[in-house]
Amino acid sequence: RPSDRLLEEKTEEILGINKNGMRCPMEQYIIKGGNPLVGEVEIGGAKNAALGILAAAIMTDETVKIENLPDVQDINVLLEAISEIGAKVERVNRTTVLINGSGIGSVSVDYEYIKKIRASYYLLGALLGKYKRAEVPLPGGCNIGSRPIDLHLKGFKALGAKVKISHGSIIAQADQLTGSHIFLDTVSVGATINIMMAASMANGYTIIENAAREPHVVDAANFLNSMGANIKGAGTDVIRIRGVEKLHKTEYSIIPDQIEAGTFMFAAAATKGDVMVKNVIPKHLEATTAKLVEIGCEVEEFDDAVRVVASKRLGCTNVKTLPYPGYPTDMQPQIGVTLALASGTSIVTESIFENRFKYMDELARMGATVKVEGNSAIITGVEKFTGARVSAPDLRAGAALVIAGLAAEGYTIVDDIVYIQRGYENFEEKLRSLGAEIERVSSEKEIQKFKLRVG
Ligand code: EPZ
Repeated sequence: RPSDRLLEEKTEEILGINKNGMRCPMEQYIIKGGNPLVGEVEIGGAKNAALGILAAAIMTDETVKIENLPDVQDINVLLEAISEIGAKVERVNRTTVLINGSGIGSVSVDYEYIKKIRASYYLLGALLGKYKRAEVPLPGGCNIGSRPIDLHLKGFKALGAKVKISHGSIIAQADQLTGSHIFLDTVSVGATINIMMAASMANGYTIIENAAREPHVVDAANFLNSMGANIKGAGTDVIRIRGVEKLHKTEYSIIPDQIEAGTFMFAAAATKGDVMVKNVIPKHLEATTAKLVEIGCEVEEFDDAVRVVASKRLGCTNVKTLPYPGYPTDMQPQIGVTLALASGTSIVTESIFENRFKYMDELARMGATVKVEGNSAIITGVEKFTGARVSAPDLRAGAALVIAGLAAEGYTIVDDIVYIQRGYENFEEKLRSLGAEIERVSSEKEIQKFKLRVG
């Protein structure tokens, strides 16, 4: 089927190799910086909510319709994995999909690409809840630090599952799942959603304490409830779940992506632009908005949009990443880049993932004055960056380096943009519509063509 081929191409792109193990040409962004971003941009569905929701969609035998899916590679890989185990996946259009999990023939996910994405772990909770058995390869994902999944497994064990790791896969199984009182030692988005899924189809009552409160946890809970689950308290730190025997069909639209939105807000700030970011839930952006206002941006909130205007040089601040409603770790590189252009010295502290400052070395190559000490970065703002060849170390840091390139004088080349494609749909198109000079290229000839065109 043509849609199968499309998915295959997308997964080849994400890995940089095709099915025969041949390397695909590496793509890069070339950017000519200096234009303030001006105009309007539409935000897509939340990737991290969609990943949990797509896995949960296989928990019923009826057909589920999911709308406002982001067209990004992590989503396409998960859809492919779901169809590999026997679910029927039908793309209605770019952002809508129908999923029917009645034909699932195997609870063992050995689809090779799934190892590359973090959210493969959601298939554990979904399959274990529905079939009481799941076998999923240990997850990969962006290299932003050690990313244990002990809390997920602790939750499954508390529900009565036996869990073991064998030949690189996690195998979880139970005769039956029984509700339990689970305390999460660390606030974890993934563990909260995963346990919520399995507990939705357990016998009896489960309480998750110290649960994550992120908007995508709430979205996954709302989705499961729309399928007949009984989950209360999502969005607070205590979630209560009464297990049900069966889940049923639903139609559901995913919330807007607050990280994509925040990325465009910082792109507006760093380029001294004026951008209306549309199709957002301003409440989800409060931590980002507060920081932008603090450093001197004007932020205007509408019902489902925010406008960010930066008319003067921005000021410094200190920021520490925290679980929601604190400042998100997924927005740390974007503020780091912006503060590197602000007047004064800022301290950015990363408290969630230890390896999220790799972009700082790249930024230094563009003229930033930065020093990383432990989990803090000390940033003294410079007047301007100068374009350089840099490499995206992970998804969010990659997007932040694109922002740096947009604000820099001259040409910037960003390598390894496969990371960026995992989580930003039509990134360069959206930026171009705001006046950015950016193009996706895969050869020196294309780079020269771009330079000739933009002058
Ligand atoms: C989710 O990862 C997101 N990924 C990440 O987004 C995001 O950075 C992160 O939440 C924090 O908001 C997806 O939703 C697919 P966690 P997740 O479990 O769920 C520790 C992006 O750029 N921990 O909330 O894997 C962990 O080490 C990505 O879109 C344990 O110790 O993150 C971390 O310090 C990158 N044991 C903290 O908890 C566990 O079993 C929070 O991690 C699980 C987590």
